[in-house]
Amino acid sequence: MSPDPLAPDPVLSAEDVSVKFGGLSALANVSLQVPSGRIVALIGPNGAGKTTMFNVLTGLQETTTGRVRFNGADISGWPTYRRGRAGIARTFQRLALFTRLSVSDNLVASWESSHRGGVFGRGRSLRQERVHQVMELLNLWPIADRLAGELSTGQGRMVELGRALCTDPHVLLLDEPGSGLDVKETAAFCDVLRTVVRGPSAPAVLLVEHDMTLVMEVCSALTVLDFGKVIACGSPEEIRNDELVRAAYLGDVSVA
Ligand SMILES: Nc1ncnc2c1ncn2[C@@H]1O[C@H](COP(=O)(O)OP(=O)(O)OP(=O)(O)O)[C@@H](O)[C@H]1O
Ligand SMILES: [Mg+2]
Repeated sequence: MSPDPLAPDPVLSAEDVSVKFGGLSALANVSLQVPSGRIVALIGPNGAGKTTMFNVLTGLQETTTGRVRFNGADISGWPTYRRGRAGIARTFQRLALFTRLSVSDNLVASWESSHRGGVFGRGRSLRQERVHQVMELLNLWPIADRLAGELSTGQGRMVELGRALCTDPHVLLLDEPGSGLDVKETAAFCDVLRTVVRGPSAPAVLLVEHDMTLVMEVCSALTVLDFGKVIACGSPEEIRNDELVRAAYLGDVSVA
């Protein structure tokens, strides 16, 4: 149950993180690493502490112990907006789009909120270039002018990923992006994720997901939480065959 010794340096890591809500221990001395250029997953049953860990990594949740590092620097005291500016982007378990804006305007708004210097002159063309790239990558052109509030869940999840990508992230935290997707949409999402992490300035990805087909297909390593504790970490193969994980979680979900 040790992290992959051959993995590249972590772009983002949690060290010994604990969070308590009153008497409830939501996270107990949890460590995890997101190596650059990789897709890794954080899995576990409902209430295991996955979203709480995302909140810790993005600065929305204070910890009782532990620290968060980004490219080696201790960012535990940084507010959320500073972590966002530095290149940590996330999507939410419940869709968080501007429902009354079009798909393309949702992307534009995300680019503008994350890039200083405004949209005049060069800024305008940089914005257009990035938004177009992301529309292309995620195949959003056919729904570019649709209002975000009128989309299916699958389309909405793709737009949310697009908004995160428009911030030019170094690391992307995706909280249950497969939730509400049908089989075809899930397959398309897997393909997109693999494309997203390709290339020299591509972000690393930390994925929280209950769809084990998606997870096992795209991730190189997984950390498993149960009642706020790490019960295993390793490759998809190791996790699939781990007795403790099977008993706590995988016994209840289908694994491809
Ligand atoms: N703000 C809060 N106040 C009190 N308890 C909380 C709070 N947020 C989360 N919890 C509790 O902490 C535990 C971990 O919750 P968390 O949302 O992190 O789980 P999760 O692994 O994301 O679950 P799911 O798979 O259902 O999304 C749960 O018992 C939850 O009820
Ligand atoms: Mg959650």
